[in-house]
Amino acid sequence: MFLSQRMSRIKPSPTLAVTARAAELKALGQDIISLGAGEPDFDTPEHIKTAAVKALSEGKTKYTAVEGTTALRKAIIEKFKKEDGLDYDLNQVIVCAGVKQVIFNALLASLNPGDEVIIPAPYWVSYPDMVEIAEGVPVIVRCAPEADLKLTPELLIESITPKSKWLVLNSPNNPSGMAYSHKELEALAKVISDVPHLNVISDDIYERLIFDKYKFVTLAQVAPELKDRILIVNGVSKTYAMTGWRIGYGAGAAELIEVMATLQSQSTSNACSISQEAALAALTGPQDFIKDWIKIYTERRDAAFDILNKTPGLHCFQPHGAFYLYPSCVELMGKKAPSGALISNDTDVATYLLESVGVAVVPGAAFGLSPYFRISYATDTKLLLEACRRISQAISLLR
Ligand SMILES: Cc1ncc(COP(=O)(O)O)c(C=O)c1O
Repeated sequence: MFLSQRMSRIKPSPTLAVTARAAELKALGQDIISLGAGEPDFDTPEHIKTAAVKALSEGKTKYTAVEGTTALRKAIIEKFKKEDGLDYDLNQVIVCAGVKQVIFNALLASLNPGDEVIIPAPYWVSYPDMVEIAEGVPVIVRCAPEADLKLTPELLIESITPKSKWLVLNSPNNPSGMAYSHKELEALAKVISDVPHLNVISDDIYERLIFDKYKFVTLAQVAPELKDRILIVNGVSKTYAMTGWRIGYGAGAAELIEVMATLQSQSTSNACSISQEAALAALTGPQDFIKDWIKIYTERRDAAFDILNKTPGLHCFQPHGAFYLYPSCVELMGKKAPSGALISNDTDVATYLLESVGVAVVPGAAFGLSPYFRISYATDTKLLLEACRRISQAISLLR
């Protein structure tokens, strides 16, 4: 076979697979509501689209610097300074085609075969596969419900070996929605400080999507002495409803950023020039719509939480941010569907929900922690509530 061995170690994104399956059933005429996709249902704001149209008409259609335009990198630096109190120079920032490519570049540029990457579960689906592509070893650490599905210093200590190169922290978390507090990060930073060969990818993509009185804080703010060992990754996909524009950025040690840019120069070159102009408008333009969106997300979260958490057999965590709920379905294990089918894992739960009431959710197996399932409430409110009612009704029929 002409395919590489590398490809035998990785699988297609399970969240995209769920969305595709739901779309397939919908195309066959079935009444399907998909809560699978991790993208805002809002449209990209008008002023951002206008900036892209202007860039097009001004002929900004050529290659840019591989690491991104100076204007966009300056805007990113300004954002870090203003919002997070963090100082970066131009050579410490890179713009890529989404956070996905930032992380991909970082892992490929830094991992030697056998280097370990500590990934707390539940995790964003792509981390382990990206580590595998880069010939690293994903070390999955299962976080406990008692710790709100977050990594504790004890678990971190247990997972560190001489081969540990990266820890991936994601707060607010996809899929759980849980975020780390200042105190929790401080405790993790203490452990990291003692292990000089351990670096941290801090995936802050949901940074602005924070609810209630919760305050977002990133590890580099809590532990400035670790800043050179932290790669912060962030982007415009979620905050500004710009998933299709493909702009993400990374900020970290100049030495790492430089090799990431070299790698990118030999693969995709710069991120799309028009999208970079749009991202510049996103970061420097009006921000007040974000609070209106957060209000809508919060209302949806509360309504969905209410229905699901009241469903016997489901237990939800009240998320601090992002737009996901990750209910535990452990009590459903061993039950039977009206068809007689046995529910023995969270994939069975997801299959049952899709087939019996036409609701697509992503099983916890995809996020490395079972038995749970993820729903995304970045979905039209009416549809979301209808879907939650259907889930509740279907689960009540399990015996
Ligand atoms: C935690 C996390 N990181 C990164 C990404 C990728 O984002 P981007 O669209 O910028 O590639 C996602 C998207 O779902 C995510 O949930």
